[in-house]
Amino acid sequence: MSKSPSHHDLETVPYMDFFKKFKRLRLFEPSLGIFGFFLVTVCVICCFFYLDYRAVAKGFRFSTQSEGLVWLKFDGSDEDRRVEFLSEKGDGCDVFQGDWVWDETYPLYQSRDCRFMDDGFRCSENGRPDLFYTKWRWQPKDCNLPRFDAKMMLEKLRNRRLVFVGDSIGRNQWESLLCMLSSVISNKDSIYEVNGSPITKHKGFLVFKFEEFNCTVEYYRAPFLVLQSRPPAGAPQKIRTTLKLDQMDWSSSKWRDADMLVFNTGHWWNYEKTIRGGCYFQEGAVVKMDMEVDTAYRKSLVTVIDWINRELNMTKTQVFFRTYAPVHFRGGDWKTGGSCHLETLPELGSSLVPFHTWARYNIFVDVLSAHSNASESMALNVLNITSMTSRRKDGHSSLYYLGPKSSPAPLHRQDCSHWCLPGVPDAWNELLHALFLKHEAART
Ligand SMILES: *[C@@H]1O[C@H](CO)[C@@H](O)[C@H](O)[C@H]1NC(C)=O
Ligand SMILES: *[C@@H]1O[C@H](CO)[C@@H](O)[C@H](O)[C@H]1NC(C)=O
Ligand SMILES: *[C@@H]1O[C@H](CO)[C@@H](O)[C@H](O)[C@H]1NC(C)=O
Ligand SMILES: *[C@@H]1O[C@H](CO)[C@@H](O)[C@H](O)[C@H]1NC(C)=O
Repeated sequence: MSKSPSHHDLETVPYMDFFKKFKRLRLFEPSLGIFGFFLVTVCVICCFFYLDYRAVAKGFRFSTQSEGLVWLKFDGSDEDRRVEFLSEKGDGCDVFQGDWVWDETYPLYQSRDCRFMDDGFRCSENGRPDLFYTKWRWQPKDCNLPRFDAKMMLEKLRNRRLVFVGDSIGRNQWESLLCMLSSVISNKDSIYEVNGSPITKHKGFLVFKFEEFNCTVEYYRAPFLVLQSRPPAGAPQKIRTTLKLDQMDWSSSKWRDADMLVFNTGHWWNYEKTIRGGCYFQEGAVVKMDMEVDTAYRKSLVTVIDWINRELNMTKTQVFFRTYAPVHFRGGDWKTGGSCHLETLPELGSSLVPFHTWARYNIFVDVLSAHSNASESMALNVLNITSMTSRRKDGHSSLYYLGPKSSPAPLHRQDCSHWCLPGVPDAWNELLHALFLKHEAART
C-alpha cells in the first residue's frame, strides 16, 4: 500500500495505521474477539470523518446485546422491517443486494477442523495474522437469510448429487461447502472421496460422499466449460490446443444427471490463458485465428445456456450459474507485483475493482438476457455474487497460500484471486443454501 498510495482509496488509511500498531504490539491472537470489536468500533467512529453518515450506518450493524454499543445501531428499524427470505413474504427479495455486517458468531467452522481443504486456502494456518475477514456475514437489504443449517441441507440432499463445475474459484467454493456440511458430521471417516483420490493438487474431478446421507458433493475442473482438446489435423504448428466453442467439456456426460449443478467460469477467459499459450478458438471444424477472447467467451456462454435448455431435465436438476468472482490486485497483477496483503477490512461503500471484473460480468448478463425467454429464465438461477464480493478486498489468500511451511510468499507473488477459508465463499454457499431451501419448499 505504501508503494502505490494512488491506488488506494483514502478511507482505508486510518484503519491501516491502527492495524500496523496493533500488529507490532502482538495483541492480535490472544483476545481477538475483544480487540476485533474494539477496533471496529474505533473504525466506525473514524468513518464518520471520512464517509457519508448513512453509508456507515448501513455498513455496520451491531447486535443489541453488546451493552454500551447500542447507540451505534442507527437504523434498527431496518431489522424489524425485514421479512424472512424463506417465508412467503420473502418471495421477491433480492438476496444479492445488501451489506456485510460484523457478526461475532462467525466463522461457521475452523479450517483446522476441516480435512477437505487445500493448503492454499488455509490462510490462518499459513500465518495470516488477522481474523477479521472471517467475521463478516452477508445481510440482504430487504430480508433475512436462514442461518446455515448443514443437517437440513444434507437431509434435503439425501440420495442426491450436488455438482460444481468450473475453475479453481469454483473449487474454492466447493471446498467451502464441504467444510460447512462436514462440520455437523462427527464421524469424519464416513465422508470420503469415492475413488480414494487426495484433495490436494488434484486435477480432473473429485467426488465426496457423505455416507450417512448417500449424497455426493462433487467438483469437476472445467475452467472454460466448453471443450478444450487437440486442434484439427493439419493445423499450423503454433496451435497447440483449441477450445471448441460449440461443444461442452468432455466431463459433461458425468454431471448431466446431477440434482444440483453450480457452474462458474471467467478467470481463464483472457489472452494469457488462451492464445498466448497456443490455445485458439474453434467453431465446427474451423479454427478462427482472429477471434477475440471476449467474442469466444460470449459464444461459449451461449453454448452452455443452450446445452442447459436442451439436455437437462429441469424437474430433476436445479441449475445455478455463479457470476464472476472479482480479483483485487492493486498496483499490478499476479505477475507484476499486484498486492492485497494489507487489506484487513471490507470496503464500506461502493468498490473499486478492475474493469476486467465488470467486463466478465457484463458479458454474462448480456448473453443471459438475450437468451432468456420464459422457459429459460425459469430454469437458470443466477448466483449474482459479483457486486457483493467486489467489496471484499480483505478476503484473499494474498501471501498465505503456500502451506504452513512455505508461507508467506514473496511480496511480489500474491494471490488476490482465491479466497481464504473460512471466508467469502462461505457467504456464497449460504446464499446457495437459502435458494436451495426456497426451491425445495416450492417443490413440495
Ligand atoms: C446483481 O446484483 C446487483 C447488486 O444487487 C444488481 O445491481 C444487478 O442488477 C444484479 N444482476 C442480475 C443479473 O440480477
Ligand atoms: C444413493 O443415491 C443414488 C443417487 O445419487 C441412488 O441412485 C441410489 O439408489 C441411492 N442408494 C440408496 C441405497 O438409496
Ligand atoms: C424428469 O425428472 C423427473 C423427476 O426426477 C422425472 O419424474 C421425469 O420422468 C423426468 N423426465 C424425463 C423426460 O426424463
Ligand atoms: C425459447 O428458447 C427455446 C430454446 O432455445 C426455443 O426453442 C424457443 O423457441 C424459445 N421461445 C421463444 C418464445 O423465443
